[in-house]
Amino acid sequence: MSRQAIVKKKLTVSIIGAGRLGGALALALTERGYSVEALVSRHPNQARARRLASNRVLALSPHQLATLPPSKLILIATPDDVIGEVAATLATLMKRSSRGRTVMHTSGVLSSEALSPLAVLGFHTGSIHPLVSVSESIEGAAGLAGAYYCLEGDAAALRIARALVRDLSGHSFTIAAEHKALYHAAAVMASGHLTALVDTANELLTHCGLDQASAGRVLWPLIASAVKNLATADAAQALTGPFARGDLATVSRHLKALAANGQTEALELYRLLGQRSLRMMEEKGGVDPIRTRRIRKALSSLAKGRS
Ligand SMILES: NC(=O)c1ccc[n+]([C@@H]2O[C@H](COP(=O)([O-])OP(=O)(O)OC[C@H]3O[C@@H](n4cnc5c(N)ncnc54)[C@H](OP(=O)(O)O)[C@@H]3O)[C@@H](O)[C@H]2O)c1
Repeated sequence: MSRQAIVKKKLTVSIIGAGRLGGALALALTERGYSVEALVSRHPNQARARRLASNRVLALSPHQLATLPPSKLILIATPDDVIGEVAATLATLMKRSSRGRTVMHTSGVLSSEALSPLAVLGFHTGSIHPLVSVSESIEGAAGLAGAYYCLEGDAAALRIARALVRDLSGHSFTIAAEHKALYHAAAVMASGHLTALVDTANELLTHCGLDQASAGRVLWPLIASAVKNLATADAAQALTGPFARGDLATVSRHLKALAANGQTEALELYRLLGQRSLRMMEEKGGVDPIRTRRIRKALSSLAKGRS
Protein backbone atom coordinates (compact mmCIF):
# COMPACT_ATOMS: atom_id res chain seq x y z
CA MET A 1 0.00 0.00 0.00
CA SER A 2 1.38 3.43 -0.91
CA ARG A 3 2.17 5.93 1.82
CA GLN A 4 -0.49 8.19 0.33
CA ALA A 5 -3.13 5.47 0.80
CA ILE A 6 -2.04 4.88 4.41
CA VAL A 7 -2.28 8.58 5.26
CA LYS A 8 -5.65 8.82 3.55
CA LYS A 9 -6.96 5.88 5.59
CA LYS A 10 -5.73 7.37 8.91
CA LEU A 11 -6.98 4.64 11.21
CA THR A 12 -7.39 6.14 14.67
CA VAL A 13 -5.55 4.27 17.43
CA SER A 14 -5.44 4.39 21.22
CA ILE A 15 -2.65 2.51 22.97
CA ILE A 16 -3.13 1.29 26.52
CA GLY A 17 0.31 0.62 28.02
CA ALA A 18 2.87 3.16 26.88
CA GLY A 19 5.90 1.09 27.85
CA ARG A 20 8.63 -0.38 25.67
CA LEU A 21 6.42 -1.91 22.97
CA GLY A 22 3.44 0.45 23.34
CA GLY A 23 5.78 3.43 22.94
CA ALA A 24 7.51 1.87 19.92
CA LEU A 25 4.15 1.17 18.28
CA ALA A 26 2.98 4.72 18.97
CA LEU A 27 6.05 6.15 17.26
CA ALA A 28 6.06 3.70 14.33
CA LEU A 29 2.33 3.98 13.65
CA THR A 30 2.44 7.78 13.79
CA GLU A 31 5.36 7.72 11.35
CA ARG A 32 3.28 5.52 9.01
CA GLY A 33 0.32 7.91 8.97
CA TYR A 34 -1.89 6.35 11.64
CA SER A 35 -3.55 8.80 13.97
CA VAL A 36 -2.51 7.88 17.53
CA GLU A 37 -5.09 9.62 19.70
CA ALA A 38 -4.27 8.46 23.24
CA LEU A 39 -1.56 6.75 25.23
CA VAL A 40 -2.42 5.23 28.60
CA SER A 41 0.21 4.54 31.23
CA ARG A 42 0.24 4.39 35.00
CA HIS A 43 2.45 7.48 35.10
CA PRO A 44 1.24 9.61 32.18
CA ASN A 45 3.04 12.69 33.43
CA GLN A 46 6.40 11.08 33.59
CA ALA A 47 9.04 11.95 31.05
CA ARG A 48 8.64 8.87 28.91
CA ALA A 49 4.92 9.38 28.37
CA ARG A 50 5.42 13.09 27.75
CA ARG A 51 8.14 12.47 25.19
CA LEU A 52 6.12 9.89 23.30
CA ALA A 53 2.89 11.82 23.44
CA SER A 54 2.99 14.78 21.08
CA ASN A 55 0.69 17.70 21.87
CA ARG A 56 -2.07 16.09 19.85
CA VAL A 57 -1.95 12.78 21.77
CA LEU A 58 -3.85 12.45 25.03
CA ALA A 59 -1.74 11.04 27.87
CA LEU A 60 -4.11 9.23 30.24
CA SER A 61 -3.82 7.14 33.37
CA PRO A 62 -5.68 3.80 33.71
CA HIS A 63 -8.19 5.64 35.95
CA GLN A 64 -9.11 7.90 33.03
CA LEU A 65 -10.15 5.14 30.60
CA ALA A 66 -13.68 6.56 30.59
CA THR A 67 -12.26 9.53 28.63
CA LEU A 68 -10.58 7.36 26.00
CA PRO A 69 -11.36 8.74 22.52
CA PRO A 70 -13.55 6.55 20.26
CA SER A 71 -10.54 5.22 18.30
CA LYS A 72 -11.23 2.56 15.68
CA LEU A 73 -8.37 0.46 17.04
CA ILE A 74 -7.38 -0.02 20.67
CA LEU A 75 -4.05 -1.73 21.25
CA ILE A 76 -3.43 -3.12 24.74
CA ALA A 77 0.33 -3.28 25.36
CA THR A 78 0.30 -3.64 29.15
CA PRO A 79 2.07 -6.45 31.02
CA ASP A 80 0.33 -9.78 30.22
CA ASP A 81 -1.02 -10.10 33.76
CA VAL A 82 -3.24 -7.01 33.53
CA ILE A 83 -4.68 -7.51 30.02
CA GLY A 84 -7.76 -9.34 31.38
CA GLU A 85 -8.34 -6.59 33.94
CA VAL A 86 -8.00 -3.85 31.29
CA ALA A 87 -10.40 -5.72 28.95
CA ALA A 88 -12.96 -6.06 31.75
CA THR A 89 -12.69 -2.33 32.56
CA LEU A 90 -13.06 -1.34 28.90
CA ALA A 91 -16.09 -3.64 28.59
CA THR A 92 -17.74 -1.90 31.52
CA LEU A 93 -17.00 1.56 30.12
CA MET A 94 -17.72 0.97 26.43
CA LYS A 95 -20.88 -1.10 26.52
CA ARG A 96 -22.60 0.76 23.69
CA SER A 97 -19.70 1.78 21.47
CA SER A 98 -18.38 -1.41 19.91
CA ARG A 99 -19.62 -0.90 16.33
CA GLY A 100 -16.79 -1.13 13.79
CA ARG A 101 -14.12 -1.07 16.49
CA THR A 102 -11.27 -3.49 17.11
CA VAL A 103 -9.31 -4.28 20.26
CA MET A 104 -6.06 -6.21 20.10
CA HIS A 105 -3.38 -6.99 22.65
CA THR A 106 0.31 -7.57 22.05
CA SER A 107 0.93 -10.51 24.36
CA GLY A 108 2.79 -13.48 22.94
CA VAL A 109 1.37 -16.02 25.35
CA LEU A 110 -2.30 -14.97 25.58
CA SER A 111 -4.83 -15.36 22.79
CA SER A 112 -7.75 -13.09 21.92
CA GLU A 113 -9.70 -15.11 24.52
CA ALA A 114 -8.29 -12.63 27.04
CA LEU A 115 -10.49 -10.01 25.36
CA SER A 116 -13.69 -12.07 25.50
CA PRO A 117 -15.65 -9.48 27.60
CA LEU A 118 -15.17 -7.10 24.64
CA ALA A 119 -15.93 -9.73 21.96
CA VAL A 120 -19.25 -10.38 23.71
CA LEU A 121 -20.11 -6.69 23.25
CA GLY A 122 -19.40 -6.86 19.49
CA PHE A 123 -15.82 -5.55 19.35
CA HIS A 124 -13.56 -7.34 16.89
CA THR A 125 -10.78 -8.90 18.93
CA GLY A 126 -7.35 -10.28 18.20
CA SER A 127 -3.74 -10.48 19.26
CA ILE A 128 -0.74 -9.08 17.42
CA HIS A 129 2.69 -10.14 18.67
CA PRO A 130 5.88 -8.86 17.05
CA LEU A 131 8.64 -11.44 17.18
CA VAL A 132 11.24 -8.89 18.12
CA SER A 133 12.85 -7.74 21.35
CA VAL A 134 12.02 -4.12 22.22
CA SER A 135 14.07 -2.85 25.15
CA GLU A 136 13.56 0.84 24.41
CA SER A 137 10.83 2.61 22.41
CA ILE A 138 12.78 4.83 20.01
CA GLU A 139 15.14 2.15 18.68
CA GLY A 140 12.32 -0.34 19.07
CA ALA A 141 10.15 1.64 16.66
CA ALA A 142 12.77 1.18 13.93
CA GLY A 143 13.11 -2.52 14.80
CA LEU A 144 9.40 -3.12 14.15
CA ALA A 145 10.03 -2.85 10.39
CA GLY A 146 11.03 -6.19 8.94
CA ALA A 147 9.81 -8.15 12.00
CA TYR A 148 7.48 -11.13 11.83
CA TYR A 149 4.17 -10.69 13.64
CA CYS A 150 2.10 -13.58 14.97
CA LEU A 151 -1.60 -12.80 14.49
CA GLU A 152 -4.65 -14.50 15.89
CA GLY A 153 -8.26 -13.45 16.33
CA ASP A 154 -11.56 -13.04 14.48
CA ALA A 155 -11.66 -12.41 10.72
CA ALA A 156 -12.20 -8.64 10.93
CA ALA A 157 -9.43 -8.18 13.53
CA LEU A 158 -7.08 -10.25 11.37
CA ARG A 159 -7.78 -8.01 8.37
CA ILE A 160 -6.90 -4.90 10.39
CA ALA A 161 -3.83 -6.59 11.89
CA ARG A 162 -2.51 -7.70 8.48
CA ALA A 163 -2.90 -4.19 7.07
CA LEU A 164 -1.17 -2.71 10.12
CA VAL A 165 1.76 -5.13 9.80
CA ARG A 166 2.08 -4.33 6.10
CA ASP A 167 2.08 -0.62 6.91
CA LEU A 168 4.85 -1.22 9.45
CA SER A 169 6.86 -3.03 6.71
CA GLY A 170 6.60 -6.28 8.67
CA HIS A 171 5.53 -9.82 7.79
CA SER A 172 2.59 -11.61 9.36
CA PHE A 173 1.58 -15.19 10.00
CA THR A 174 -1.34 -16.68 11.91
CA ILE A 175 -1.65 -19.49 14.44
CA ALA A 176 -4.61 -21.04 16.25
CA ALA A 177 -5.49 -19.55 19.64
CA GLU A 178 -4.74 -22.80 21.49
CA HIS A 179 -1.12 -22.73 20.28
CA LYS A 180 -0.21 -19.33 21.69
CA ALA A 181 1.49 -20.63 24.85
CA LEU A 182 3.58 -23.12 22.87
CA TYR A 183 4.37 -20.46 20.27
CA HIS A 184 5.50 -18.06 22.97
CA ALA A 185 7.63 -20.73 24.66
CA ALA A 186 9.44 -21.02 21.30
CA ALA A 187 9.93 -17.25 21.17
CA VAL A 188 11.37 -17.23 24.70
CA MET A 189 13.72 -20.10 23.85
CA ALA A 190 15.02 -18.15 20.83
CA SER A 191 15.41 -14.84 22.63
CA GLY A 192 15.33 -14.68 26.43
CA HIS A 193 16.84 -18.14 26.92
CA LEU A 194 19.51 -17.41 24.33
CA THR A 195 20.46 -14.37 26.41
CA ALA A 196 20.49 -16.51 29.58
CA LEU A 197 22.69 -19.05 27.84
CA VAL A 198 25.17 -16.36 26.82
CA ASP A 199 25.14 -15.11 30.41
CA THR A 200 26.10 -18.63 31.54
CA ALA A 201 29.00 -18.69 29.06
CA ASN A 202 30.11 -15.26 30.34
CA GLU A 203 30.14 -16.57 33.89
CA LEU A 204 32.25 -19.59 32.92
CA LEU A 205 34.79 -17.24 31.35
CA THR A 206 34.99 -15.21 34.55
CA HIS A 207 36.05 -18.46 36.26
CA CYS A 208 38.90 -18.56 33.70
CA GLY A 209 40.10 -15.17 34.89
CA LEU A 210 38.37 -12.76 32.48
CA ASP A 211 36.40 -9.84 33.87
CA GLN A 212 32.69 -9.53 32.97
CA ALA A 213 33.23 -6.90 30.26
CA SER A 214 36.04 -8.84 28.57
CA ALA A 215 34.01 -12.05 28.73
CA GLY A 216 31.13 -10.38 26.89
CA ARG A 217 33.48 -8.79 24.37
CA VAL A 218 35.45 -11.91 23.44
CA LEU A 219 32.31 -14.01 23.04
CA TRP A 220 30.46 -11.55 20.83
CA PRO A 221 32.10 -12.35 17.43
CA LEU A 222 31.56 -16.06 18.14
CA ILE A 223 27.89 -15.48 18.94
CA ALA A 224 27.47 -13.20 15.91
CA SER A 225 29.01 -15.80 13.58
CA ALA A 226 26.74 -18.55 14.99
CA VAL A 227 23.67 -16.33 14.49
CA LYS A 228 24.81 -15.46 10.96
CA ASN A 229 25.25 -19.17 10.13
CA LEU A 230 21.75 -19.83 11.49
CA ALA A 231 20.31 -17.14 9.23
CA THR A 232 21.70 -18.74 6.11
CA ALA A 233 21.55 -22.49 6.80
CA ASP A 234 19.33 -24.94 8.65
CA ALA A 235 20.22 -25.57 12.29
CA ALA A 236 22.00 -28.90 11.69
CA GLN A 237 24.16 -27.35 8.96
CA ALA A 238 24.88 -24.29 11.09
CA LEU A 239 26.02 -26.39 14.08
CA THR A 240 29.78 -26.41 14.68
CA GLY A 241 31.85 -27.73 17.60
CA PRO A 242 32.42 -31.14 19.19
CA PHE A 243 28.85 -32.39 18.75
CA ALA A 244 28.96 -31.65 15.01
CA ARG A 245 32.34 -33.44 14.79
CA GLY A 246 31.54 -36.32 17.14
CA ASP A 247 34.51 -35.44 19.39
CA LEU A 248 33.87 -37.67 22.40
CA ALA A 249 37.10 -36.82 24.25
CA THR A 250 36.40 -33.08 24.01
CA VAL A 251 32.87 -33.48 25.36
CA SER A 252 34.20 -35.63 28.23
CA ARG A 253 36.75 -32.94 29.12
CA HIS A 254 34.03 -30.30 29.14
CA LEU A 255 31.85 -32.41 31.44
CA LYS A 256 34.70 -33.03 33.85
CA ALA A 257 35.75 -29.36 33.90
CA LEU A 258 32.22 -28.16 34.56
CA ALA A 259 31.76 -30.71 37.39
CA ALA A 260 35.19 -29.98 38.93
CA ASN A 261 34.41 -26.23 39.01
CA GLY A 262 31.06 -26.76 40.72
CA GLN A 263 29.14 -25.43 37.70
CA THR A 264 26.04 -27.52 38.36
CA GLU A 265 23.58 -25.34 36.46
CA ALA A 266 25.90 -24.90 33.45
CA LEU A 267 26.55 -28.66 33.48
CA GLU A 268 22.85 -29.40 33.31
CA LEU A 269 22.37 -26.91 30.47
CA TYR A 270 25.38 -28.35 28.63
CA ARG A 271 24.01 -31.86 29.01
CA LEU A 272 20.49 -31.00 27.81
CA LEU A 273 21.65 -28.94 24.84
CA GLY A 274 24.26 -31.56 24.02
CA GLN A 275 21.47 -34.15 23.75
CA ARG A 276 19.67 -31.84 21.37
CA SER A 277 22.81 -31.31 19.25
CA LEU A 278 23.28 -35.08 19.05
CA ARG A 279 19.71 -35.52 17.85
CA MET A 280 20.26 -32.88 15.17
CA MET A 281 23.41 -34.64 13.97
CA GLU A 282 21.64 -38.03 13.98
CA GLU A 283 18.82 -36.66 11.85
CA LYS A 284 21.30 -35.07 9.48
CA GLY A 285 23.31 -38.34 9.39
CA GLY A 286 26.56 -36.42 9.60
CA VAL A 287 28.32 -38.22 12.47
CA ASP A 288 29.36 -41.86 12.97
CA PRO A 289 26.45 -43.44 14.93
CA ILE A 290 28.85 -45.30 17.26
CA ARG A 291 30.45 -42.01 18.29
CA THR A 292 27.03 -40.43 18.75
CA ARG A 293 25.99 -43.30 21.04
CA ARG A 294 29.17 -42.93 23.12
CA ILE A 295 28.70 -39.20 23.54
CA ARG A 296 25.07 -39.74 24.53
CA LYS A 297 26.23 -42.30 27.11
CA ALA A 298 28.77 -39.83 28.52
CA LEU A 299 26.06 -37.17 28.84
CA SER A 300 23.55 -39.48 30.50
CA SER A 301 26.14 -41.09 32.85
CA LEU A 302 26.72 -37.61 34.12
CA ALA A 303 23.00 -37.16 34.66
CA LYS A 304 22.98 -40.24 36.89
CA GLY A 305 25.93 -38.88 38.89
CA ARG A 306 28.42 -41.38 37.47
CA SER A 307 30.75 -39.06 35.56
N1 LIG B 1 9.08 -5.49 24.89
C1 LIG B 1 9.07 -6.45 24.01
O1 LIG B 1 10.12 -6.82 23.47
C2 LIG B 1 7.78 -7.09 23.58
C3 LIG B 1 7.78 -7.80 22.36
C4 LIG B 1 6.61 -8.41 21.95
C5 LIG B 1 5.47 -8.32 22.75
N2 LIG B 1 5.52 -7.65 23.94
C6 LIG B 1 4.29 -7.60 24.74
O2 LIG B 1 3.90 -6.25 24.90
C7 LIG B 1 3.28 -6.07 26.18
C8 LIG B 1 4.01 -4.97 26.94
O3 LIG B 1 5.36 -5.35 27.09
P1 LIG B 1 6.47 -4.23 27.36
O4 LIG B 1 7.78 -4.93 27.32
O5 LIG B 1 6.27 -3.06 26.48
O6 LIG B 1 6.13 -3.85 28.88
P2 LIG B 1 6.47 -2.51 29.69
O7 LIG B 1 7.62 -1.79 29.08
O8 LIG B 1 6.54 -2.90 31.12
O9 LIG B 1 5.19 -1.59 29.46
C9 LIG B 1 3.96 -1.87 30.03
C10 LIG B 1 3.17 -0.59 30.10
O10 LIG B 1 1.88 -0.87 30.65
C11 LIG B 1 1.57 0.11 31.61
N3 LIG B 1 0.63 -0.45 32.57
C12 LIG B 1 0.86 -1.31 33.60
N4 LIG B 1 -0.31 -1.61 34.22
C13 LIG B 1 -1.27 -0.93 33.55
C14 LIG B 1 -2.67 -0.82 33.69
N5 LIG B 1 -3.33 -1.47 34.66
N6 LIG B 1 -3.36 -0.04 32.81
C15 LIG B 1 -2.73 0.64 31.84
N7 LIG B 1 -1.40 0.58 31.65
C16 LIG B 1 -0.67 -0.18 32.50
C17 LIG B 1 2.89 0.46 32.23
O11 LIG B 1 2.78 1.68 32.89
P3 LIG B 1 4.06 2.46 33.51
O12 LIG B 1 4.64 3.22 32.33
O13 LIG B 1 3.50 3.35 34.51
O14 LIG B 1 4.96 1.40 34.07
C18 LIG B 1 3.75 0.50 30.97
O15 LIG B 1 3.59 1.74 30.31
C19 LIG B 1 3.31 -7.43 26.86
O16 LIG B 1 2.10 -8.09 26.60
C20 LIG B 1 4.44 -8.15 26.16
O17 LIG B 1 4.26 -9.55 26.16
C21 LIG B 1 6.64 -7.02 24.37
